[in-house]
Amino acid sequence: MADELIESILNESRSFPPSKEFSDQANINEAKAEEMRKLAADDHIKYWAKLANEELHWSRPFSNTLDDSKAPNYEWFNDGEINASYNSLDVNVSKNPHKTAIIFEKEDGKSESITYKELLLKTSQFANGLKKIGVEPMDRVVIYMPMCPEAVIAMQACARIGAIHSVVFGGFSSNALKDRIEDAQSKIVITADGAFRGGGVIPLKQATDEAVSQSSFKVNNVVVFKRTGENVNFNKGTDIWWEDLVADCDLVCEPKPLNAEHPLFILYTSGSTGKPKGIQHATAGYILHAKTTFSWIFDIKNDDVFWCTADVGWITGHTYVAYGPLLSGATILIYEGAPTYPDVGRFWSICEKHSVTIFYTAPTAIRALMKHGDEIPANYDLSKLRLLGTVGEPINPEAWIWYHKVIGGEHCPIVDTWWQTETGGAMISPLPGITNTKPGSCTTAIPGIDIDIVNESGEPVDEPNQGGYLVIKKPWPSMLRTIWGDNQRYIDTYWEKFDGKYYVAGDSAYRDEDDCHWIMGRIDDVLNVSGHRLGTMEVESALVANEKVAEAAVVGRPHEVKGESIFAFVVTKGNRPTGNDAKTTQEELREWVASQVGSIAKPDEIRFSDNLPKTRSGKIMRRLLRAIARQEEITQDISTLEDESIVKQLQGEE
Ligand code: WT7
Repeated sequence: MADELIESILNESRSFPPSKEFSDQANINEAKAEEMRKLAADDHIKYWAKLANEELHWSRPFSNTLDDSKAPNYEWFNDGEINASYNSLDVNVSKNPHKTAIIFEKEDGKSESITYKELLLKTSQFANGLKKIGVEPMDRVVIYMPMCPEAVIAMQACARIGAIHSVVFGGFSSNALKDRIEDAQSKIVITADGAFRGGGVIPLKQATDEAVSQSSFKVNNVVVFKRTGENVNFNKGTDIWWEDLVADCDLVCEPKPLNAEHPLFILYTSGSTGKPKGIQHATAGYILHAKTTFSWIFDIKNDDVFWCTADVGWITGHTYVAYGPLLSGATILIYEGAPTYPDVGRFWSICEKHSVTIFYTAPTAIRALMKHGDEIPANYDLSKLRLLGTVGEPINPEAWIWYHKVIGGEHCPIVDTWWQTETGGAMISPLPGITNTKPGSCTTAIPGIDIDIVNESGEPVDEPNQGGYLVIKKPWPSMLRTIWGDNQRYIDTYWEKFDGKYYVAGDSAYRDEDDCHWIMGRIDDVLNVSGHRLGTMEVESALVANEKVAEAAVVGRPHEVKGESIFAFVVTKGNRPTGNDAKTTQEELREWVASQVGSIAKPDEIRFSDNLPKTRSGKIMRRLLRAIARQEEITQDISTLEDESIVKQLQGEE
């Protein structure tokens, strides 16, 4: 696309109103949005109560909408009973049993579909299998699976019987898996022999074996789904093949009525310490938000084919793959493999093949595919697409405009959805039938969500274009309930800053004259690498766990495709490696971090120095390191450094 065109669009700071054609058919039109906003403004509690009654099927109705007696441990609908799997599957089977629930596109190009009825039967049968091996309500079940329908079935089966699933992304290493098994105290792990990815196989079972054998918490059973058919080690006594487990199980499993506050899942995410946090979500509030935002933001209709490219190992894959779409009776597509396999046209070829109408992905994927030029998508028929979405990080306007023109053919609204693992579902996003979008802005909060931008003392920043802390002012149903096993950390991380008054998201943001919000970045030591959250401390603790490393400091640096890349400054024990020695040590440490955390945590660059720059009180001067990594001019006072010459080493000049 011509640079002048981008330039002209950016200079005009143009906004993009939805077409009349789209608006006329939208689930949320101007009048509806107005009505919702008014109700929410008049009575926030009534607003959520009304939605919870209209949208969900309760086995026992609730009368308490919000219980704030233990704030900030808010509870929602806590005298009601409900089941998430019943709301996802049984409800839709009774409406249209033969509707396709999941289209599964395998990496080798074969595909298959599963109807709602089949999904219910498979889920029920597997739920009975879990019961057979002793899984009870409140038990934690770790799921470490490839992207395939069985991953969703495993999640839904847990929800059906009241077990708490904790999905671990298949790209995480055995060590990261072990940490999560231990923290969640999960006596069951569900995995597969392997996962197809990029033409190769990821040995999930081998990683599971390592994790289980090293875990200080005893795992009783490992359920293994056969996906690749490769030979894997099989431990008699603990291991059970998925197919053997379900072979004699009934196809009917009554969904267990559970308290609305019953934990639905734990999902680990990175924070500002070395230890990931187990974000705990509750059943009713979470599914309410998943269902409603899915319908409002993605404007879902009966014949849509919705494709969210996120893995179920992330919150996006929970809310907009495994729950939101199924709660709405939608047809989703699940793709097993790499976006560039066998070539960089794969995403677009899948859109064409399965007539995808709504496509939701991360800016990093858009930027990566944009690099290959407009000719690639031009080879495919993308005319069925009617709505596009992005999530996970700010999208740069250039990528937005490319997405709009080249993928959306200028007729698809783009929903840039801001949210977090903690918020459970999208919070700030255009409503595609009514919002004038602006490239790079996630626009305004959805009805019922009350956000603000506040300064250091917690006062609203009313002036436009002034940055501050992004906060959420009222509790909402799909908010995290706590951090698994560490409620104090929950309070400290999200509520302490403004004395429990606001939920602090950890992002800075500003609002412009048109009430559009622009996310500026994290305010804590958290990086966003390819739309994935990573703590700098997490990478640092992985590095210092290596026998060669004495000290490490990790900072982020802007990256054209990944958004941010990881830059590590390392002090080794003994002499500072130089020349070839430095090269091999760098490679060794990169692989080491991959083995400790996962490939996504591999530092892009590692630089060795004799010391790290510290203040007199011994604090690492991170701002200085950030400036060095970004090759910015150094404005920090370095006269306090014991040895100023290390700055040259850090700059890579020696
Ligand atoms: C952090 C949450 C929400 C699912 C994926 C990431 C950043 C998320 C956007 C957006 C700008 C965004 C924020 C947020 N983020 N969406 N549309 N525009 N930034 O979930 O791993 O919990 O990370 O991702 O910094 O705090 P997560």
